[in-house]
Amino acid sequence: MAQDHPPPSDDPKYEEQLEEEDEEDAEEIDEAEARKKASSLEARRLYLEQRLAPPPVPQPSEMVLDKLGGYEFFDKVLKKPKCVLAPMVDQSFLAFRMFTRKYGADLCYTPMFHSKTFSHDPTYRKKNFTTVPEDRPLVVQFCANEPLFLLKAARYVEDRCDAVDINLGCPQNIAKKGNYGAFLMDSPDIVYELVSILHKYLKVPVFCKMRIFNDEEKTMNFAKMLEAAGCQLLTVHGRTKEQKGHVQGVANLDIIKRIKAELSIPVICNGNIQEYEDVQKNLDITKADGVMSAETILRNPAIFSGKKIHPCDLSDEFLDLCETKYPTQLKYVRTHILHILKDSFDYNADLRVAMGKVRNIPQMRKVVNEIRDREKNGQKGSVLSDILLREKRAAIKAQKAAEAVITEKEVIESYNMFNEEGET
Ligand SMILES: Cc1cc2nc3c(=O)[nH]c(=O)nc-3n(C[C@H](O)[C@H](O)[C@H](O)COP(=O)(O)O)c2cc1C
Repeated sequence: MAQDHPPPSDDPKYEEQLEEEDEEDAEEIDEAEARKKASSLEARRLYLEQRLAPPPVPQPSEMVLDKLGGYEFFDKVLKKPKCVLAPMVDQSFLAFRMFTRKYGADLCYTPMFHSKTFSHDPTYRKKNFTTVPEDRPLVVQFCANEPLFLLKAARYVEDRCDAVDINLGCPQNIAKKGNYGAFLMDSPDIVYELVSILHKYLKVPVFCKMRIFNDEEKTMNFAKMLEAAGCQLLTVHGRTKEQKGHVQGVANLDIIKRIKAELSIPVICNGNIQEYEDVQKNLDITKADGVMSAETILRNPAIFSGKKIHPCDLSDEFLDLCETKYPTQLKYVRTHILHILKDSFDYNADLRVAMGKVRNIPQMRKVVNEIRDREKNGQKGSVLSDILLREKRAAIKAQKAAEAVITEKEVIESYNMFNEEGET
């Protein structure tokens, strides 16, 4: 990926990145060889044992003592981000991050990666984590419950991001089974270990993203524990882990306001962003340092710009990015287009089916063009395109009305002139 946009070859960071990519390629080859050799069951067992053996405990000499944290880091390195793209599995990949950056996202998170798999599987790392030098500021998110594996995973990315975040908010069954995400909030001792190992031994700061408990004091204590463990920025999704799917409900911004008031690290407020105006509204309510959006920014990647852009135009632009600059797996591109054009697909079910069947980006463009044509021909489109259409019609009407006034005035004037001329 990086080869698509080579920055100046004397950029040391880029050189470092290329070296790391070479190392990863070599590791991938080693792994393939090892797998080949591990043909018998016994050999396979030994191979897995070796791969999954806990990484070594870091030595005190490896501690990183001189990194920035808290507001100093927030202001100087992150440049006071206000609008944040949420971590989203299968969605907040490079192309989408770069797209939202263009439209006002000041800070972007990667999707959540599984730290244990990331720590021992170079193919998983290579397939899932892609970045380019201009993809900054960037936070890489992991789920974890074993500190040594988390540290090992985080060390693979510490030179290519600004911070590493621990997911303490995923409410899905898979997180329950794996004991991570929001379910880990019931094991504060483990969480403390996870945060503090990164705080002590990682080159970049550690962030956390949590949900809330039903009990306000318990929520406050948990947030304070994260700060004490070394967390340098906290994102709070103002919902409990039970508030998901159809029972999602609204986020509790009051508790976020209290967390912001009682902690001394930056706090990002997550939940209840449905339109551009909510950014400032939620900041005013919570006094948080920034807001994070997930579902709404999937629907409108330009939300943070406050611009009203037709969903078909946004789709075209995103497809251009995926086709030319930041190649992305087709299934993820498709999901993004289905989100961006959701309202249009609600009125054009046949095109939703067609989008499900396309095999490449040019075919996706055809579906987008078909939606555009249907809307031009007066068929119902997305809510936003309807608003834009209504605004356009109102503008034409106003212009015609103005022209009508002029015409009327002109008629009177010419009539008067005629009369004057007639008199002479
Ligand atoms: C498609 C999707 C994927 C998500 N994946 C993650 C994830 O990888 N890590 C995480 O912490 N939260 C994840 N979330 C939760 C969001 O980051 C966010 O906390 C939640 O959706 C609430 O924000 P919203 O009201 O703006 O949608 C995901 C949400 C969505 C919609």
